[in-house]
Amino acid sequence: MSYPENLRDSIDRVKASRQARLGAEFPRLTPEEKTALLAAFHPDYRAESKRELRVGPNRGERVPQELADLLEGKSWIDPDRFRLDRVDYETDVLVVGGGGAGCTAALLAWEHGARVLLATKLRLGDSNTIMAEGGIAAATEPEDSPMLHYLDTVGGGRYENVPELVEALVLDAPLVVEWLENLGVVFDRRPDGSILTHAPGGHCRRRSHSCKDLTGLEIMRVLRDEVRNKDIEVMEFCAVVELLLDENGNCAGAVLYNFDNQEYLLVRAGAVILTTGGMGRLHINEFPTSNHYGATADGLVVAYRAGAPLLYVDAVQYHPTGVAWPDQMLGYLITEALRAHGAHLVNARGERFINELETRDAVASAIIRECREGRGVRTPTGTEGVWLDTPMIDLIGGQGKMTRQFTGICKRFERYGIDVSSDPILVYPTQHYQNGGVKHDPQGKTAIPGLFVAGEVGGGVHGRNRLGANSLVDIFVFGRRAGAAAALDARDGRSGKLTLEHVRRFHRELQKAGIREPVTSPLLIPDYLSAGHKARQHV
Ligand code: FUM
Repeated sequence: MSYPENLRDSIDRVKASRQARLGAEFPRLTPEEKTALLAAFHPDYRAESKRELRVGPNRGERVPQELADLLEGKSWIDPDRFRLDRVDYETDVLVVGGGGAGCTAALLAWEHGARVLLATKLRLGDSNTIMAEGGIAAATEPEDSPMLHYLDTVGGGRYENVPELVEALVLDAPLVVEWLENLGVVFDRRPDGSILTHAPGGHCRRRSHSCKDLTGLEIMRVLRDEVRNKDIEVMEFCAVVELLLDENGNCAGAVLYNFDNQEYLLVRAGAVILTTGGMGRLHINEFPTSNHYGATADGLVVAYRAGAPLLYVDAVQYHPTGVAWPDQMLGYLITEALRAHGAHLVNARGERFINELETRDAVASAIIRECREGRGVRTPTGTEGVWLDTPMIDLIGGQGKMTRQFTGICKRFERYGIDVSSDPILVYPTQHYQNGGVKHDPQGKTAIPGLFVAGEVGGGVHGRNRLGANSLVDIFVFGRRAGAAAALDARDGRSGKLTLEHVRRFHRELQKAGIREPVTSPLLIPDYLSAGHKARQHV
């Protein structure tokens, strides 16, 4: 299968306008234009897609409906019947989640002398990290500085980022790149041997370090190896369903559900680090998603039920360029690095309509505008999108640049008979990232003593809109910090009696709020079989 005939006319228009577009600058949005664009077209601004939380620390705040249902859910376990006197595992630090943040936190906790148990819902490494394409941001170039990285991050986050978190992010970022290199990650290099960098949207300097378009796969190759080669116990197919507190209100472990034997396990720990990722599989506003199957907000749910406040979970990132055709790839990520290497966004008429390196919220909104106002391309199955003119990459970077630098994407399209170095890619925004999460300090500490977070489950560093390449650096910066801090914290020991009183209290709150039929949460596995499932594409 290649592109259907009825898309050919529009592809011809893209080709016809290519030479004229080459080398032309598209004007940047003024702050006023950006504000108006977001208000009119960004899905976060759809009032009907959110509702007020009726229970918990963020009661009264509006969050996406899909998340609200889970945050207002009831536990998988009955706190009055669950036995707390039979501990299955005891450890210093329990890390929940097996992606980049989880592996990093486990390694650092181990290096700081802690006994570490890492529990993960799927297999070690199954995560959004392993699917990361574009790169990791760090101010390593001579013309760059952490200060510029700071300013870009805060500008992209709509000035609502937590300053101490951004400071930690940009100062640690170069060290993290060096750490990864020393572990064995092979970053792209220029012919002179220096590391190749590019500038994703919202970054004023080249600072994203890539491994082709398979950056996360390469990084996880190395991290998984490190974890397996240390004395770190790994439990796969074990999902967190509840946190355990002690009688003094400290986090002192978790209840896990083992998918293999369908049993609950009780883990007692000196400290717990949640690295469970985000809510990308909730299909907020019925959008397709770029996320892996495990991204079901589990960490948010258990932390919230235990009393940890959340920050900015109403802010969802829709990556501008998810696949809109072929249908089998709907929502799949097409890295922003393609735009950084020169690919233009073009509507059905062959016209550019936005500077491709505006921040993601603005670019996604502009694509939605084009489609809503009739300048999108409609496919035979009813999806809609605009063109990402990938053949420009060879025109700018020389013949073969596209297949060399973006091997993963080229291969995936090849399966459907599409050669993306000669034809453009049809794209539409896809749910990509949870900008907010559990509130934490620069060491990953939450409001609950003994409970830490790292990576996408944490909130604040990105404000209301994360910049590209800032998520890979986030998971390593805060994974390292949380791992070290949790190991120290666990040394104090927590010997108080285990309790599920917080779950009882939450269930009473649900009743009091009149929530008679709460869903059971966390969700654990997305439900694609129920009749009500509508996730597809929402123009
Ligand atoms: O476009 C991308 O490669 C995505 C990167 C990111 O979310 O940081």
